[in-house]
Amino acid sequence: MKIAVLPGDGIGTEIVAEAVRVLDALDLNFEMETALVGGAAYEAHGHPLPEATLKLAKEADAVLFGAVGDWKYDKLDRPLRPEQAILGLRKNLGLFANFRPAICYEQLTHASSLKPELVAGLDILIIRELTGDIYFGQPRGKRVATDGHFPGADEAFDTMRYSRPEIERIARVAFEAARKRNRRVTSVDKANVLETFQFWKDVVTEVHKDYPDIELEHMYVDNAAMQLVKKPKAFDVIVTGNMFGDILSDEASMLTGSIGMLPSASLNDSNQGLYEPSHGSAPDIAGKGVANPLATILSAAMMLRFSLNQEEAAQRIETAVKAVLAQGLRTPDIWSEGTTKVGTREMGDAVLKALA
Ligand code: IPM
Ligand code: MG
Repeated sequence: MKIAVLPGDGIGTEIVAEAVRVLDALDLNFEMETALVGGAAYEAHGHPLPEATLKLAKEADAVLFGAVGDWKYDKLDRPLRPEQAILGLRKNLGLFANFRPAICYEQLTHASSLKPELVAGLDILIIRELTGDIYFGQPRGKRVATDGHFPGADEAFDTMRYSRPEIERIARVAFEAARKRNRRVTSVDKANVLETFQFWKDVVTEVHKDYPDIELEHMYVDNAAMQLVKKPKAFDVIVTGNMFGDILSDEASMLTGSIGMLPSASLNDSNQGLYEPSHGSAPDIAGKGVANPLATILSAAMMLRFSLNQEEAAQRIETAVKAVLAQGLRTPDIWSEGTTKVGTREMGDAVLKALA
């Protein structure tokens, strides 16, 4: 089993180092190979996703990814910006199914900005389509307007689009996932305004005929954003498009106390996957040793489960993470009165100890 390790930028290197230590401790004989990605790769090779990195990722059974990005690259041409690395990996590996669980751990109920009773026991799964929608739709660019409110003015445009097979396959992923959970799927759209999402709704409804045991509801994205903070526990599986999923998954992360706790998995149709924390590179705290490594460690657990067929090892990691939380250890992002503040390395040490 081969794992491509791509730490990236900012806190990426620190948190991935802890996840790698955890994987090493499992003694499962993985082959792990590290490569540069994002801003780090741009500095060294002039491109955020060098050929060699892409090749390594394609050949591996799974990719463990840290985070990319730094404000200092915001002025680069778009194709050279660090974010293009993650978009390029998603596209080149066909990682269309993005799993973003939002789980509120018992000990972190009070770290959420919502009232504890709203989030206690929260366990929702956002399934975000990851290779289509306005993120990848062509054409896009800048031009001079020939119509609209200001003909003759400069304008920019993107294309929102989904094809039937793209919607069908992500809908199936969602219904299958719901079968292993509470059998409820909320499909989030904007069918009241957008053709793309009227089509989305229609296709999801058709696919649902194959899953009569699953309850399906449709919800507009603005309402979904509201319900997520009003009554989040009413959700089980949420399935939605690339852009709505980007936004709603950040919102959902806040229900759990910290985005520093949330892992994610992005899979293609052969279960090859990229695993990354849901948070970004946090350049403001990079190099300080205070970043929370748990989202990355939990992403490694998802990797073991989904791509490497090691369910038992995945559960060992998840149990170890719960144990360190029960011990009261907290990185600053989840710290509260009465708990023990620790840094990235200490948190990694504690997980290793709990594993043993
Ligand atoms: C995410 C991120 C990315 C996205 C960026 C970094 C391109 O926000 O994974 O949610 O928009 O998909
Ligand atoms: Mg995002």
